[in-house]
Amino acid sequence: MQISTVRPEAQEHVQTKENLLGRMADARGLTDDLFRLLHPEAFYDRPISERHRLIFYLGHLEAFDWNLLRGRVLDAAAFHPEYDQLFAFGIDPLEDGLPADLPGDWPSVADVQKYVREVRCSLDEHLGKFDPSALDLPYGPDYSASTLLNVAIEHRLMHLETLAYLLHQLPYDRKLEPRRLTPAPSSDEHVDDSLHYRPGSIRIPEGQVTLGLPQHMPEASDFGWDNEFEAHRVSVPAFEIDEYKVSNGEYLDFVNAGGYQNQNYWDESGWNWILNHGIRNPVFWKQVGNKWHYRGMFREFPLPLYWPVYVSHAEASAFARWAGKSLPGEAQWNRAAYGRADGGENSYPWGEQLPAKKFGYFDFSRRAPAPVNAFPTARSAFGLAGLLANGWEWTSTPFAPFQGFKAFSFYPGYSANFFDGKHYVLKGGSTRTAACMLRRSFRNWFQPHYQYVYAGFRCVNS
Ligand code: AVJ
Ligand code: FE
Repeated sequence: MQISTVRPEAQEHVQTKENLLGRMADARGLTDDLFRLLHPEAFYDRPISERHRLIFYLGHLEAFDWNLLRGRVLDAAAFHPEYDQLFAFGIDPLEDGLPADLPGDWPSVADVQKYVREVRCSLDEHLGKFDPSALDLPYGPDYSASTLLNVAIEHRLMHLETLAYLLHQLPYDRKLEPRRLTPAPSSDEHVDDSLHYRPGSIRIPEGQVTLGLPQHMPEASDFGWDNEFEAHRVSVPAFEIDEYKVSNGEYLDFVNAGGYQNQNYWDESGWNWILNHGIRNPVFWKQVGNKWHYRGMFREFPLPLYWPVYVSHAEASAFARWAGKSLPGEAQWNRAAYGRADGGENSYPWGEQLPAKKFGYFDFSRRAPAPVNAFPTARSAFGLAGLLANGWEWTSTPFAPFQGFKAFSFYPGYSANFFDGKHYVLKGGSTRTAACMLRRSFRNWFQPHYQYVYAGFRCVNS
């Protein structure tokens, strides 16, 4: 068994205390910026009915860091145990269990902001005194201080993305557009030439693929979440996969062909879901007369036909059935994205270079995606375009543990609560995914009827 362990960031991102605290400070700045987009009254809005009101997230980011670090690696005293509990965990109810709390059930914005300030102050004071040479010492059965700092940083960065798509669903008059407008993309960054775009598929030869990260303890530069372990090899028979993500234009053909009116394309729960909720198109689309508009973060505009479509797993699966195709499995996706003809594997689709602007829109560089054929330098060895950034990609694989999985002792429910056969693995990333989570082993997951993520798909020929 041969496991590829080339991880360039291990050398380049030396995880000193300064580096970790700097990343933490940057992530805090980004979440602060995001909350500044909210109209003051919108903190009590619930833009997505399966999720908490926005006020929860304001308290959650700090409560999470505090509950994680306090007492495990820092000796800081609790000062507001009620908030520590109230803001500890988010929710992900199945359809019949939507939350029914009222705005008045939550504390005031000012009280939560005060809690945030006090948590940061205490954490920073204790982290400031933390002995840098103890950063990688084992503190518990499966963690060092740097493991927990990585957990806090990536947790916050993940919420930056989940908050972005929560805020995306807020009515425009509930948010304030930042004055700094997204710079227009310059032509050397990507190809925006729809004339050169022809959907096609690529044959991937039979071969082996590595899933997951090798176990380490405690080597913080190789941080991964519990569900990324253990590394293992999987044999993948030859298959054909789309060169590009499915675009809005291609998905429009499915909509116009009556895709949402024909039960044959949907499984039973998907069909009941679109019937019960009156769903007739992606949630990012809006019909205006006989035209389609795209619901952007701050305004509506005509549907960009060459952008990737963002849909739920059920909608992606229905499109695939209509097209006589299917969604790729997680191993197929990794093989197509990272495999090479010589049998080796890349760390990133394009090779060993760290994520950089020329490889795509990610790491919060902008909000909108690029056309599905953008960034030719980011193609995988087998020739697939747009694998990282520009939208997560749904797979047909239910989220489940790898062989050798052990839940993190300090966060047992992070993954294990979702090994229920009701969540599917997503791979890749979106324009709002932080660069550190574009690693090959990172796995995302959502319920099949969740439409709100910046997530699309590509198909395999069945
Ligand atoms: C890994 C993105 C599915 O948003 O539900 C944040 C991340 N878990 N806080 C989610 C998460 C707990 C999680 N996803
Ligand atoms: Fe969380």
